[in-house]
Amino acid sequence: TEFINYKNNELFIENIKASELIKQFGTPLYVYSKNHFINQYKKFDNAFSEIDHQIFYAMKSNFNLSVINTFVKLGSGVDVNSEGELFRALKTGIETSKIILTGVGKTKDEIRLGLEKKVLMIKAESEEEVELINKIASEKNLVAPVALRVNPDVDAKTHPYISTGLSKNKFGIDSATALSIYRRRNQYKHIQFTGIDMHIGSQITTIEPFVEAISKMSELYFTLLDEGLKLNHFDVGGGIGVQYNNESSFTIEEFAERTIPLFKRLDCKILFEPGRYLTANGGVLLTEVLYNKQNGEKRFVIVDAAMNDLLRPAIYQAYHHIQPIIKYEGRNDIVADIVGPVCETGDYFARDRKIAQTLSGEFLAIMSSGAYGMTMASNYNARRRPAEILVDENKVIVVRSRETFEHLLWDEKVF
Ligand code: LLP
Repeated sequence: TEFINYKNNELFIENIKASELIKQFGTPLYVYSKNHFINQYKKFDNAFSEIDHQIFYAMKSNFNLSVINTFVKLGSGVDVNSEGELFRALKTGIETSKIILTGVGKTKDEIRLGLEKKVLMIKAESEEEVELINKIASEKNLVAPVALRVNPDVDAKTHPYISTGLSKNKFGIDSATALSIYRRRNQYKHIQFTGIDMHIGSQITTIEPFVEAISKMSELYFTLLDEGLKLNHFDVGGGIGVQYNNESSFTIEEFAERTIPLFKRLDCKILFEPGRYLTANGGVLLTEVLYNKQNGEKRFVIVDAAMNDLLRPAIYQAYHHIQPIIKYEGRNDIVADIVGPVCETGDYFARDRKIAQTLSGEFLAIMSSGAYGMTMASNYNARRRPAEILVDENKVIVVRSRETFEHLLWDEKVF
């Protein structure tokens, strides 16, 4: 991206050298470009300027408070998938009417909290959940704003672990059941059905599955309208793919051009829940090369970041571009596995990757790590999670310090 780029063979995040940040804060280190986030948000928002719409940032992709706040300040709402995410969102001071509560398995406490905080809507993903929301709302003498998450049964053609819109996936309610629940709305005195929702998967790189799903959901919308139920919100979910490795994808303008005509037929507000689109390419994970070695035919570059810091390669065989933060002259390319220190074979960032040779003590950048990086990090092997740095032009803000070993022992007892 224009915000994370080489100048004179040195990697910069906005106006700051990666090497400077490493000197100050050590590795592994997450670094984010604030202006990339802002730019992506504005591109998305502008693409849909001709229709009544609202973005709800899917904070599961990057829930650092300063990242959430960057979007909130631009007018974004947030999509929260748990009590913990709701707690984080509220810390930014966001109006609760700009929060949507999602989740295939919400607990009673989560539903209760959502109602108390008066979120814009709760998405229900089963008939039992609709009943529970109705019950909890009646105990509180409230009317709960609810959207059904419909599973449109379309193939998003993405990695099976992040495909969510097929009927064999655990998500949502099939159209027939959804229709029957909406029809029986009078049975739920403490629910007002305000919307309809879908989310068919993540890292989707063709527009077709969206068009297909939006069309199917529109049919449902019009059936309900005919029967006297006017929904206010049509929630398209997230899932728009980004480029990790020059894969062919679509631009947000192309996406808008194809979908706006479909949205215009509906007389309601269109909601979007992008995560990755806003954050993925705005982050890098910087790591030190510890060792180079050869086992038989195979070469390994062992770095100080690991699967606990960035899980995506290990669980989705995800591609992340990896490059030295300084392009030295006269270095040959090697083909190697780039791996971390964790005690598992799955702990790798790249396999048989062609990369310029880097010596121990030099540094690599694992690109496109702004989405589902830190939010999926763990303390496996009792490793401290990395610090997170937000760069805004010349400004460097430590938006989360590296964990200490004391943090890791929080409230634990030796019995
Ligand atoms: N809305 C809902 C209901 C979702 O479940 C998700 C993502 C989003 C929005 C945002 O999707 P996005 O725009 O970011 O594609 N950990 C995986 C991705 C899991 C996505 C889960 N749901 C990965 O690293 O690829």
